[in-house]
Amino acid sequence: MLTNSPLLAAYRGLKPTRTPLWFMRQAGRYLPEYRAIREKHPMLEVITTPQLAAEVTLQPLRRFDFDAAIIFADILNPLIGMGAKLDFLKGEGPKIYNPVRTLDDVKRLKVPNASENVPYTLQAIELVTKELTPRGVPLIGFCGAPFTLSCYFINGEGDSNFHLARKLMLTDPNMWELLSEKLVEMTIGYLEAQVKAGASAVQIFDSWAGLLGPEQFKKYCLPYLTKIIVGFKKRCAAPFCYFATGTAGIFHEVAKLPADVFGIDWRQSLSESSKILDGRAVQGNLDPMMLFATKEDLTRAVERVLEDGAKAKSFIFNLGHGILPETPIASVEHVINLVRSRDE
Ligand code: CP3
Repeated sequence: MLTNSPLLAAYRGLKPTRTPLWFMRQAGRYLPEYRAIREKHPMLEVITTPQLAAEVTLQPLRRFDFDAAIIFADILNPLIGMGAKLDFLKGEGPKIYNPVRTLDDVKRLKVPNASENVPYTLQAIELVTKELTPRGVPLIGFCGAPFTLSCYFINGEGDSNFHLARKLMLTDPNMWELLSEKLVEMTIGYLEAQVKAGASAVQIFDSWAGLLGPEQFKKYCLPYLTKIIVGFKKRCAAPFCYFATGTAGIFHEVAKLPADVFGIDWRQSLSESSKILDGRAVQGNLDPMMLFATKEDLTRAVERVLEDGAKAKSFIFNLGHGILPETPIASVEHVINLVRSRDE
């Protein structure tokens, strides 16, 4: 039923019927209907209640002509079943009250099955796809990458440089390796379960990989990411997207990943990236800050993305990173109208 999906065509390197378009973090605080739900329900309650997660996933699709939905969850909640005491604090973001800091901490972590760890997300995927599949709209499943998850798991909360995690990565290789391996195992099962529940593609978020130089990325990220992608592909035919930011300087290493699609941020050209990727699909790369610029500047920025993207073999229009909470809805509408009008 999803044979005509522009997104899935582009993800597979085929020619889509129109430029596929979705926004990273498209379900979220810039939408008043999302804020209304969050006023009544804490973040973890929304994630763990299938009806609420499904509703929030569908909200942007009711308003905007997007070519995909992304299931509502977080990269961090799957760590709960491994042993993390996680919460999302108002105005502060995620907090893990028992961060892992030693080999013994990591040895104690469990590797749960997805069906016991995140049954709510799998049920939410079933609810969403029941509504979207007849409309021909695919659902994207997702997870966090081992490096980015380890940053939060070790640090316990957000940070701009994750020095503590990167110090342990260098000084305690046994701990790092065991933590990464456990995350790899959990992640393969999690992604497979999302596809079995109805997701048509998956995306792995490695938001902090740009902190690393090429040698470090090669040593501490590539092997584990490769295991995830290879393990996933043995079990599932769905396209696999790798997303990171700030990786322009290490992209020759990133390109070694056997992924089908690569998220590209605004610091890097879509067409140049496509060449490095031997024509594999590129997704991006409008700077989310541009949605705060004047209409004229935003128009020019979108046009530049479309022109550069047109030179890539396969291109999906997206932001270079997640949409920001205060983003004006009118800017989102303007971007979508522009992308659609250039296809006519
Ligand atoms: O439409 C969607 O994409 C929603 C699903 C989604 C969320 N988080 C919901 C969320 C996805 C794909 C994520 C990914 C995520 N979570 C990443 C990688 C992507 C990126 O933007 O870099 C990271 C690093 C996290 C961890 C995380 N979760 C942080 C750092 C924060 C606080 C900062 C922030 O953006 O608010 C969260 C909370 C979070 N996750 C919110 C949402 C909608 C805001 C919670 C709220 O409603 O108050």
